[in-house]
Amino acid sequence: MARVNTLPPLLDKLGRPVRDLRISVTDRCNFRCVYCMPKTVFGRDYPFMPRAGLLSFEEIACVARIFAARGVKKVRLTGGEPLLRHGVDKLIGMLALIPDLEITLTTNGSLLPQKSALLRAAGLKRVTVSLDALDDAVFKRMNDVDFPVAKVLDGIAVAAAAGLGPIKVNMVVKRGANDHEILALARHFRGSGHILRFIEYMDVGSSNGWKLDEVVSSAEVVRRIDAAFPLEPIDANYPGEVAQRWRYKDGAGEIGVISSVTRAFCDTCTRIRLSTEGKLYTCLFAQSGHDLRELIRAGKSDAELDAAIAAIWQARDDRYSQLRMAATPHLQKIEMSYIGG
Ligand code: GTP
Ligand code: 5AD
Ligand code: SF4
Ligand code: SF4
Repeated sequence: MARVNTLPPLLDKLGRPVRDLRISVTDRCNFRCVYCMPKTVFGRDYPFMPRAGLLSFEEIACVARIFAARGVKKVRLTGGEPLLRHGVDKLIGMLALIPDLEITLTTNGSLLPQKSALLRAAGLKRVTVSLDALDDAVFKRMNDVDFPVAKVLDGIAVAAAAGLGPIKVNMVVKRGANDHEILALARHFRGSGHILRFIEYMDVGSSNGWKLDEVVSSAEVVRRIDAAFPLEPIDANYPGEVAQRWRYKDGAGEIGVISSVTRAFCDTCTRIRLSTEGKLYTCLFAQSGHDLRELIRAGKSDAELDAAIAAIWQARDDRYSQLRMAATPHLQKIEMSYIGG
């Protein structure tokens, strides 16, 4: 591990360092959330990636080591549903050997009851669980499968007991679909020690039929909760944190709002994404990726991979959400009327 932190930090064209590496470990999921993998696109015969196409654990760990040497402090495993990847705990074990690297994971929670202890033992620090409703019917309307909310809540409890907290719970808010559940979720998680975060519904990919009027702004979420349970803004945990934090004035904990649409945070975006098949994406909305798998499988050395990665980050000038905001006058109005922190 002699090379860790011995290289100069990388800066992109806008002066942003690389800090967070998000690794997708599978393109499969057992849910079909309407905003992410709608059944109309991800049907029974959808061609998911063949096994040989996936980066192996060794290949993923190799990329992570190179990024860690360049200043990445946090790895987040995602998917699809990352817990569907066979042996993901082994990957976590390999990543946990890299010094100064926090390993986290974002999951739909369905497999947490049986997997939490194993994940924790392997070296996972925290989990973030997606949960879009408390009511089963609304939950089904969002994820299009029959999966009881109670099982996800059970997963959260088991993960917390296994030491994978503080647990963050992500609710994607879609107007007319689940926004009437905002207060119910807030009430449920108040005082639980878990941190509920509300995410503005985004136009990710090209298959979710995004419409601006389906976005509920963070300002509105805060207003609605504040009316029932008074809130006050608090400072970010670290520079570049995507969520803005608010705490309940009565001491019942905190919530977060992620304003990807109305208050883009590209200026401080330190994230890079590694796809299941080994492509690097410098933005969530990037149209194309950079193929690392090809380089790895061509037998390139670590130094050569590092040089390729450095060149990709140094050429980065992405700021999709900011450009979208600038091009959408209505959004600027929402932003101007944004209250508080
Ligand atoms: P922690 O602060 O460590 O909990 O991590 P995080 O907030 O980055 O993790 P998480 O995966 O929970 O991200 C929360 C949500 O924010 C994601 O599900 C996305 O909806 C959104 N998000 C995360 N990163 C980006 C990004 O780079 N760009 C945009 N536009 N949205 C993002
Ligand atoms: N808009 C906002 N958030 C999304 N996520 C997935 N698709 C979208 C979207 N279109 C969130 C999920 C989960 C994380 C992996 O990404 O809710 O928390
Ligand atoms: Fe997408 Fe997560 Fe829903 Fe699966 S659970 S469809 S990965 S948002
Ligand atoms: Fe980062 Fe792209 Fe998201 Fe902006 S839109 S915050 S550059 S990932």
